[in-house]
Amino acid sequence: MTSDQLQHIAIIMDGNGRWAQKRGLPRSAGHKKGAETLQEVVRAAGELGIKYLTLYAFSTENWQRDAEEVEGLMNLLRQYLKSELKEIQEKGVRIIFIGELHMLAADIVSQMDKIEHDTAKNDKMTLCIALSYGSRQEIVSAAQKIASLAQKGDIRIEDIDIKMFSDMLYTKDIPDPDLVIRTSGEQRISNYLLWQIAYSELFFTPTLWPDFNKQELEKIIEDFNHRERRYGKV
Ligand code: IPE
Ligand code: IPE
Ligand code: MG
Repeated sequence: MTSDQLQHIAIIMDGNGRWAQKRGLPRSAGHKKGAETLQEVVRAAGELGIKYLTLYAFSTENWQRDAEEVEGLMNLLRQYLKSELKEIQEKGVRIIFIGELHMLAADIVSQMDKIEHDTAKNDKMTLCIALSYGSRQEIVSAAQKIASLAQKGDIRIEDIDIKMFSDMLYTKDIPDPDLVIRTSGEQRISNYLLWQIAYSELFFTPTLWPDFNKQELEKIIEDFNHRERRYGKV
């Protein structure tokens, strides 16, 4: 199903709140259903032979939402981290987390560390979860690391290049996304992987995240397979 061209899919999982609102339910109901979609899509990606799947679960800007919504999302995350590990292990999935992880509660951070550690040797698929993630902050942190190395005399200014910069990002171990999908009809990037998506194909679907499924993922992959990526060449 997937081609050699499609190793990495990155998804902006958006529209949980509107899904709930349409049904007269609290936003938390949308997040709960969204978490089920997440599980289905992780499973589907593995079945479709996707090597890397990066999911935008919570942005640095999302901290500004009501305390109640943030707390609800953090509790869902706690549940997910507890319940998913077994299936993830069985399926040979490696999990990594990217973002301003120090902003998360200590119990969540230690659970994440454990999962990263326990799944580190799995090689069927890498699931990268962007949590408390903001791409501008990621880029600023990379610049700080490089500046510090230069100040100590460990690198020369002339040594700074695209490869070195990429290696300072949270995503240093994974290839750039080939395809970015955003659900919910919004056509924006919302501070997601700004550096990494320089040449990614973009796909915007009106489907709200809780309604997204394997079938739609397959259709989008089919669309991707018909695109021509030129990278500036003719
Ligand atoms: C995406 O759904 C989940 C998160 C950002 C955590 P939203 O919560 O943004 O849902 P909408 O966009 O308000 O519908
Ligand atoms: C982007 O969705 C972040 C996640 C999906 C985690 P938002 O709902 O936060 O984005 P905006 O506010 O519509 O740009
Ligand atoms: Mg949204």
